[in-house]
Amino acid sequence: MSKTRVLTGITTSGTPHLGNYVGAIRPAIAASRRAEAESFYFLADYHALIKVQAPERVQRSTLEIAAAWLACGLDPQRVWFYRQSDIPEIPELTWLLTCVAGKGLLNRAHAYKAAVDKNRAEGEDDDAGVSAGLFMYPVLMAADILLFNAQRVPVGRDQVQHIEMARDIGQRFNHLYGEHFVLPEAAVEAHVATLPGLDGRKMSKSYDNTIPLFVPREQLRRLVFSIVTDSRAPGEPKPTADSAVFQLYQAFAAPEETAAFARAFADGIAWGDAKQALFERIDAELAPLRERYAALLARPAEIEAILRDGAERLRARHATPFLRRLREAVGLRDLSRVSLAAAPERARKSADAPSFKQYREADGRFYFKLVQGERVLLQSVGFASPREAGQRIAALKQGEIGAPGSDFVLGEGVGSEEVNAALAAFVADHLDGAGGT
Ligand code: TRP
Repeated sequence: MSKTRVLTGITTSGTPHLGNYVGAIRPAIAASRRAEAESFYFLADYHALIKVQAPERVQRSTLEIAAAWLACGLDPQRVWFYRQSDIPEIPELTWLLTCVAGKGLLNRAHAYKAAVDKNRAEGEDDDAGVSAGLFMYPVLMAADILLFNAQRVPVGRDQVQHIEMARDIGQRFNHLYGEHFVLPEAAVEAHVATLPGLDGRKMSKSYDNTIPLFVPREQLRRLVFSIVTDSRAPGEPKPTADSAVFQLYQAFAAPEETAAFARAFADGIAWGDAKQALFERIDAELAPLRERYAALLARPAEIEAILRDGAERLRARHATPFLRRLREAVGLRDLSRVSLAAAPERARKSADAPSFKQYREADGRFYFKLVQGERVLLQSVGFASPREAGQRIAALKQGEIGAPGSDFVLGEGVGSEEVNAALAAFVADHLDGAGGT
């Protein structure tokens, strides 16, 4: 049985906090110990450059995140653990993918759109302060994923669109150059709760409410005691539902311990006692990891060696040979092996590619049909103007098939699935539906 390839990247733009640990590091390491997965975990330092232009911080964050994953038990002999910028095939693939990625697709990326919306709200130029790197972010991420033919990509909900874009881009490449890429799927861990931060909102660097993963014990205690609670007095029953103290406890405790903690809430445990219990629980899990972390940070050259070794083995095993095939596929080839007899491939391909034909009938109305070779897949009714016919075609290209019978009929013996497949092929052939009919 071949193993499922699971891949995820960690942007090296911050210091790991408890939210990262509970939401990403701990479940990923547990998953990597299961035999059925081949896991890829990497430090996305090229992605970090999009956000952070302070060199010391990029370096520091890369070191801290690498040390954190190793301290938490990641075994670099068992999983692929590497740094993005140690794999030159990633930027090289990024360019190959850039040339097939629709600009319109990238325009729709949430992160880019949010930047544009903000600029508009502030009366600025749409792209003010937007780097081309931010715009291209999804393509770089697609290269990370497609280079290793990853099947599952565990990510947060905010990243799901990027995985869908990687699928789109990979699909388009496959359509043009043959089946090279596996199309990845996002895996959003539904049962991994998002951890609340000090103020009760989701723990996140952008809210400045995090508890760093490896602060010294005393500082951890101070942070835990600073978690915002309500003013219920000792002895008063406390609801667990919206309590950050309770939810944090649950993330670190066994189910029986959590049940006992819930009973203590119902019995009116004082907030101070609840926080003390929470602090002890977190510290019990983290203390041994903290020690390993400190030992690793004291020997950064070892971390460097681990990362380089991972990248070197991975390149030899996957990246370098795969990129050689991809270069060949797109035509970046050894000229001494040129075949002068070979017929142009594109000509052969386009004969049976679906296309739209627009024409005018004797009734003076404007029609279109979707044809593939000799077959008519879809035939429109007559429109009053070429513009209307064109708009209907544009809607079809957007995937709005609608019900046949209203303004088009399917060809004889043609099913709607066949039409959908032809439309998808058409769109893939003509970036974003732009281009001729
Ligand atoms: N963009 C991801 C994040 O911010 C990090 C990342 C980069 C990533 N490349 C990836 C995640 C590839 C999964 C797969 O969380």
